[in-house]
Amino acid sequence: MKSFLSIKNLTKTEIMQLIKRGLEFKNGAKAKVNASVSNIFLEPSTRTMMSFQKAQKDLGINIYDLPIANSSFKKGETLEDTLLNLKSMGINAFVIRTTEENYWDKFTNQFTIINGGDGTKNHPSQALLDAMTIYEHFQTLSNLKVAIIGDIKHSRVFHSNKDLLQKFNSQVDGFGPKVLGGNNQDISEVLGNYDVIMLLRIQHERLKTDFSMADYNAKFGINEHNVSKLKKHAIILHPGPVNRNVEISEKILYNHPQSKILEQVNNGVNVRKAILEFACKNL
Ligand code: CP
Repeated sequence: MKSFLSIKNLTKTEIMQLIKRGLEFKNGAKAKVNASVSNIFLEPSTRTMMSFQKAQKDLGINIYDLPIANSSFKKGETLEDTLLNLKSMGINAFVIRTTEENYWDKFTNQFTIINGGDGTKNHPSQALLDAMTIYEHFQTLSNLKVAIIGDIKHSRVFHSNKDLLQKFNSQVDGFGPKVLGGNNQDISEVLGNYDVIMLLRIQHERLKTDFSMADYNAKFGINEHNVSKLKKHAIILHPGPVNRNVEISEKILYNHPQSKILEQVNNGVNVRKAILEFACKNL
């Protein structure tokens, strides 16, 4: 049983194997994976949920999406009991997103779990698709300077990316408002120092403090005034969903040549095929 839970559990070799397999899928490789997988998304998702579904369909996996709103979660059934029951039906792997951190510790080795994001600490498939995008651009994950800007306090994307990039000796610096874990520095002062600018979503649903989104964009967002400060080879990433004109101005979002945001989404399908193959190989 080979779960995919956290970047911390992966070796550099495994990370590179997954990225290179993702690139093979992107270049047209085909594979068949014999598995029955249930997607259990207890928090909202568009990109992670749909790209796992697309990857599963392309691999010929039998897909069983659990409709959360009409499920027995609503009657108080636990995640563990849900998984035990689905496993008894013959479903042999689970893609799970939940607010609960490290929930799998309770189930040690009972299930094959692919983590679609837990709490504020882990989003390993996102970190892998980000790394695939960086690797495609720079042909390396080593010795790069990466600025991650935004809600670094609440962001599982920040933590998983930091875990991954530091394994390869890349420098990861967090920026943003103090209330979100940053140092309050105006990013236009530092943009020119970095190879990768990763923007994080302002998570209104987790925030207690109100501040002006226009002020945020001026000081911490990529906008028409500061985008010219980027190094010529630098790339802009954002995991999505984007708050338009907050983390990044609309005109730059998809149209600027240094924005690789939709490339990230495309890579998400391909690297998730690699993850499903890795986790479901010997079921
Ligand atoms: N990046 C990301 O996790 O997006 P979703 O919440 O839409 O899955």
